[in-house]
Formats: sequence, C-alpha cells, structure tokens
Amino acid sequence: MTNLEITSTLPSNQSVSVPRFGLGVWKSRPKECFEAVKSALSLGYRHIDTAAIYGNEADVGAAIKESGVSRSDIFLVTKLWNADQGYDSTLRAIDVSLSKLGTDYVDMYLIHFPVTGKRNESWKALEKIKNEGKAKSIGVSNFMVSHLEELLKETGTVPAMNQVEYHPFLQDNDLKDYCIKKGILLEAYSPLAHGQKLEDPRITALANRYQKSNAQILIRWSLQAGHVVIPKSKNPVRIKENADVFDFVLSEEDMKEISSWNENFRTCWDPTSVE
Ligand SMILES: NC(=O)c1ccc[n+]([C@@H]2O[C@H](COP(=O)([O-])OP(=O)(O)OC[C@H]3O[C@@H](n4cnc5c(N)ncnc54)[C@H](OP(=O)(O)O)[C@@H]3O)[C@@H](O)[C@H]2O)c1
Repeated sequence: MTNLEITSTLPSNQSVSVPRFGLGVWKSRPKECFEAVKSALSLGYRHIDTAAIYGNEADVGAAIKESGVSRSDIFLVTKLWNADQGYDSTLRAIDVSLSKLGTDYVDMYLIHFPVTGKRNESWKALEKIKNEGKAKSIGVSNFMVSHLEELLKETGTVPAMNQVEYHPFLQDNDLKDYCIKKGILLEAYSPLAHGQKLEDPRITALANRYQKSNAQILIRWSLQAGHVVIPKSKNPVRIKENADVFDFVLSEEDMKEISSWNENFRTCWDPTSVE
C-alpha cells in the first residue's frame, strides 16, 4: 500500500487497466469543467469520469485536447443515460457522446443506472460497442447484487467495473464481496459523501494526527480499501489537495476504525429497491 501512486492501476477482467484515482465532474458547469479537467491533467490525474447527463462531455473533450496529454494516456469514462436505454437507442447514444467528447473511443462505457426492463438489452448494445472498439471496456453503475446476478445470468460479458456510492458512511459489504468474487472492480463515487460529512469530528481528529485534510483522509481510506476513487472538485486548489494522498498511509488500526462508521448514509439516488 505504501507504493501507491497517482497513476497506479488495477487490472480489470477486460484487458484494460483502470487508474485507481480520477476526477469526477458531476455538477461541474461547462467552463468550470473545462478548467477542472485541464488542471487535473496537469497535476497528473489520468482518469476522468463524466456522463451524458452531466452536460459537460464537450468541455471534457476540449480540455483533454488542450491539455497536451496524449489521449492514449488518459482513461476516459462516460455513461449511458436512463432515457437512452434500449438496444438501438444505446447504439445512438454512444455516437453522440463520442462526438461531444471529440474522440473515437472511451476507455470505459457504463450503464448509469439499472433501469428496469431496459438494462439487459442496453448491456447487449454495450457488448457490440465494445466489439466495435468504441469502448475499450464496459461496466455498470448503481447495480446492486440482484441486478448483477440477473445481468450475469442473462448476458455474456461480466462488467469490468461497478461504480456505486461508497464512503465510510455508506458501505455495502455484501455488494463489495460479490464484486470481488466475480472479478468486478468497485469504483467509489461520492467518496467525500458529496461533501456532507467532511466536518465529522472523527475525521478531523485523524486529519490532525496525520497532518492531512479531512478530504485526504477519506480519499486515502478509499484507496487503501481497494476501490477505484473519483473525488469531484471544480476548485483547482482542492483538485491539487485531493491528489496529495500518496505520501502517507493510514494504519491498519485506523483503517479498521473508519471502516466501522457505516450508517447507510446515502447522498445520491437509491438503487436498492429497483426491481
Ligand atoms: N454513477 C453515478 O450515479 C454517480 C453519482 C454521483 C457521483 N458520481 C461520480 O462521482 C464523482 C464524485 O462524487 P460527487 O461529486 O457526488 O461527490 P464527492 O466527490 O464525494 O464530493 C464533491 C463535493 O465535495 C467538495 N470537495 C471536493 N474536494 C474537497 C476538499 N478537498 N475539501 C472540501 N470540499 C471538497 C466539492 O466542492 P467543490 O467542487 O466546490 O470543490 C463537492 O461539493 C462525481 O463527480 C461523478 O463523476 C457518479
């Protein structure tokens, strides 16, 4: 764990390696998003997480072009929006995303949410998209164990990754164990609990002890817990701060302590009751 770096990767089950640390851009407005991605890439971030519904794919693409970083060195992820689910509409949606992003391929294409009655045919379209090279790998987001079980039973490809809300205050260990068992990477979205738990005094105590910020404690916990992690910030100072987590190690005891804070505190949408 001591030798983790900003460019450290995890192998996936689909012959791509996923940078463990990236930038999320949900709620980054277009101009902010452009600046955030440019500043992240200049600091060494190599994984950018956007989605069709965020409305900023064009700004992500423009920032990548202007960054001077080679496209092949960047792991770019976007997501299929719910209204576009279905076989033919998914095939159309990826072309729209690629055109906005200004690229021929994404490194991973995710189903954003397990829409009932649509998700399996959407997945079949993702398989075609992967075969055509428009996505180097394919995965899902907000899939619970029941959705993954169904997908694995009814379709052919195991998702490379499942992007779900995961932080010390929301830990679904059954889901995590299932992903590990099936070789699916777990990616933690909202790793800072969307900013809503940063002032927790237990985090502040650890931050003081490690001489790090509260956000850095949460990001480091996520990395050491084995997740791919994509904190979002539109602020260049925080983008830098969030990447400065590779020079310290949380002790086993502190990892255990933080891992005991689960209170099923969800900040985003809840897929648990989706049939
Ligand atoms: N698949 C899905 O359904 C889904 C759902 C949610 C999120 N995501 C992805 O995951 C990414 C991250 O999740 P998130 O955006 O929900 O939340 P997050 O990363 O947990 O937290 C972001 C919030 O924390 C603030 N923040 C960031 N760094 C900080 C720091 N060092 N100190 C203090 N505050 C800080 C940000 O404000 P500033 O921007 O002002 O710094 C923002 O308000 C998203 O951007 C998106 O890419 C995916």
